[in-house]
Amino acid sequence: MSAATRAARAAAAVAVLGSLPYWLPPAVVRLRVRIFARVNGEEGVPVPGPEVGTAAFERLYAHPAANGRSRGAALSDLFWYWLAPGPEVHQEHLEPGPRYEAVARTTRRALTAVRRQEWDRIVRRRAYDVLEPLTGGGTRVVRLRDLAMPLWAAAYHEVVFREPCPDEVRDLIVGNADDVVSALKCTGVRHMDRRDRLTRYLLGRIRAGDVPFELPEGLSDHERACYLQGTFFNTAVVQMSEATAHVLLAIATRPEVRERLRREPADSAYLDHVIEETLRYYPLFGVAHRITTDAITIDSGDPHATTPVTKLPAGSVLLFDYARYHRTGVPDADRFDPDRWARPRQPDLHHVPFGVAANRPCPARGIAPMTLRTAVEEVLKRFEPVSSARHDRSMPNRGPCLLVPRENSTRLQGTAVRLVAMRVRDRWEDVTRSLAQLAYGSWMVADARGQRLCGTYFDAVASGVTTPGPATAGHDAAARCPVTGEGGR
Ligand code: HEM
Repeated sequence: MSAATRAARAAAAVAVLGSLPYWLPPAVVRLRVRIFARVNGEEGVPVPGPEVGTAAFERLYAHPAANGRSRGAALSDLFWYWLAPGPEVHQEHLEPGPRYEAVARTTRRALTAVRRQEWDRIVRRRAYDVLEPLTGGGTRVVRLRDLAMPLWAAAYHEVVFREPCPDEVRDLIVGNADDVVSALKCTGVRHMDRRDRLTRYLLGRIRAGDVPFELPEGLSDHERACYLQGTFFNTAVVQMSEATAHVLLAIATRPEVRERLRREPADSAYLDHVIEETLRYYPLFGVAHRITTDAITIDSGDPHATTPVTKLPAGSVLLFDYARYHRTGVPDADRFDPDRWARPRQPDLHHVPFGVAANRPCPARGIAPMTLRTAVEEVLKRFEPVSSARHDRSMPNRGPCLLVPRENSTRLQGTAVRLVAMRVRDRWEDVTRSLAQLAYGSWMVADARGQRLCGTYFDAVASGVTTPGPATAGHDAAARCPVTGEGGR
């Protein structure tokens, strides 16, 4: 081989290697979607999609027959697997009926029992605990989701038990929430031992009579522990941590937004607009599904549609795609523009960050924006967040970010090199992470399908066992991920 050929081959190899971060992660994501569909089975009507367009999104979501939550969808086996323990009493996945009503009533009561000033006080105190130890030194490198999670773990412990959260319990809660969200994003597999430790703690507190509000009637103590775990120490902690990380990363990656926040008074409406726009641009829910309990005929609402009316049989699995819906409706929907919230609302702007009022919207929709703002304010009071990391809706990188102390007069000088290093590291981590997600995700989809938690539960209900045991009982206790040897249950 001539020297010229060798040089050309070496150059080609370097070019392929150097371009990996640009083409490999998206290619692996496409492959993952194909494998998931293959293993889990293709099911569902994407909304918006070819059968039902954006104009009918909210009408279909609000339709009384779009009310099945878990029974009858293979997809539910995967969600139940990710949300275990106790997916059968998780509010999000309970079928409509007395059990759901009892659970939803309890969540409403628990959230409204805390006055607004008290929420504010709790969040500021817990933010102080997390942020003060980081002040006083130089610039810090953090992952924003990891920064936010202990804050929300301790805050929700205080909301539930009305007492400060001991450090070791905060670690239990963070261990549980982090495990759930990592599995959901396929950046890790489930560790049921971490989750079970929290269930045992909650069961102990329930039996000791330490929960200051009435728990859902008709549930066993174990189910009540799973209910508290699912709603407050999984969903609340995960959603609030993700939302905090998204808002801070949106600020950290946009100098014009950051600069404006620095100039505006602390109580300005601009921060609210940034939060609103972040929830529109990076909705926390990717897809929410419903199973139709009756046939639905829906008018497309679009005079140019090729199918003006769609008929959906009972048992259809509707996949409401928030991200796609939010990026349609107005010509500039693809642009991140907080100021759109200062102008009169565009009638066609699509924005349902907390769901649709007529069909089980988020019970925290009143309190979440306010408490989110408080937490973000506390960070911005002390630091300027700056980042060159990739920011997408799923945020598998957990939001790498520099926190530059506010009092530092030289401010952002000296961060340029660190930002270049962060960008390079983030792009290369994308390569290894996307491969890990492919492996973990494929294994979990297959494992969830094998365990069939939701299907087995409803088979038991149908066969007349009115109060079947927990959905986690009886499944393969020894399964281990073949890639890492991790897992358990
Ligand atoms: C910024 C933060 C949050 C966002 C953007 C958010 C978003 C949502 C959305 C879009 C839904 C509806 C999903 C569907 O239609 O299936 C939902 C449901 C739910 N959320 Fe949130 N959420 C947030 C915070 C919270 C918090 C703090 C809690 C707990 C205290 C919570 C508990 C729930 C529950 C239990 C449901 C199921 C409601 C039902 O089916 O009755 N969320 N959330």
